[in-house]
Amino acid sequence: NWSMDDFITKQIAKIRSEVGDKRVLLGLSGGVDSSVVGVLLHKAIGKQLTSIFVDHGLLRKGEAEQVMDSLKGKFGLNIIKVDAKDRFLNDLKGVTDPEKKRKIIGRDFIEVFNEEAAKLNGIEFLAQGTLYTDVVESGTDTAQTIKSHHNVGGLPKDLKFKLIEPLNKLFKDEVRELGEKLGMPHALVWRQPFPGPGLGIRVIGEVTEDKLEIVRDSDYILREEIAKHGLDKDIWQYFTVLPGIRSVGVMGDGRTYDYTIGIRAITSIDGMTADFARIDWDVLQEISSRIVNEVKHVNRVVYDITSKPPATIEWE
Ligand code: XMP
Repeated sequence: NWSMDDFITKQIAKIRSEVGDKRVLLGLSGGVDSSVVGVLLHKAIGKQLTSIFVDHGLLRKGEAEQVMDSLKGKFGLNIIKVDAKDRFLNDLKGVTDPEKKRKIIGRDFIEVFNEEAAKLNGIEFLAQGTLYTDVVESGTDTAQTIKSHHNVGGLPKDLKFKLIEPLNKLFKDEVRELGEKLGMPHALVWRQPFPGPGLGIRVIGEVTEDKLEIVRDSDYILREEIAKHGLDKDIWQYFTVLPGIRSVGVMGDGRTYDYTIGIRAITSIDGMTADFARIDWDVLQEISSRIVNEVKHVNRVVYDITSKPPATIEWE
């Protein structure tokens, strides 16, 4: 007879007995999963938890501030924020292969994280927001790897920490329920999933600061419109991608030759399969004109109408 209250009580007891008086380190990504782990651990062991938030420069608009305000401000977590934007961008220079990008971002993330961790004393545990789906999709010896989700595949073999992964038996909807039960703000708990490599895999091909800005700004408009029309609970994940192709357009009296933005919006239960969201034409029209009018260097917007399978949710 499984209930979330039971789960919380048992997890807290388990974490306390496992950790004892030792210290735990957590990598916050800005997403739902690691935030929920943070609040759960904070509840269990309070000041024995130290969190590191690596800002890799691949976050959505306003995201870093939001995470700091709510988790540090409201919940009182001890968070060390590291600005590593330049390092990530530099290492991604010239790299176009999706899996290589993932590996680099994952590796840099671990390196930055380890460098910060090395400055701390007496840390024995590392907590992670790994979900059941991450475990399944990253593959075991017998299953095929679909995409290397970096919170599973990217860990160094000689890891000196013991792992704590309290969510690794849960699906996304259960993590949200857990967050609600822990008193976390609605906006944080219902935040759509966001991949570890962030906007790095939404700029198709080489990642540059200019392209990141286009994705960030168009994504922000999309999120605003989805919220304004009350669709954020029906649509499981929604974001924009920059395929990197340019096409001809006309604006005022002039011909333009600018970028295309792709909108991806899907409904899903757990991300394993997905269907494209049937967003109202009028809403799509509004989003499209706002993006073209407000984001420089975009003159065309397309809507992705493929399901998963055969496509994946992300374009890379
Ligand atoms: P795909 O694109 O594989 O995405 O259909 C399924 C879900 O996983 C997210 N995703 C990732 N999450 N690291 C992550 O932490 C990754 O490398 C990664 N790739 C995809 C994706 O956003 C969707 O929610």
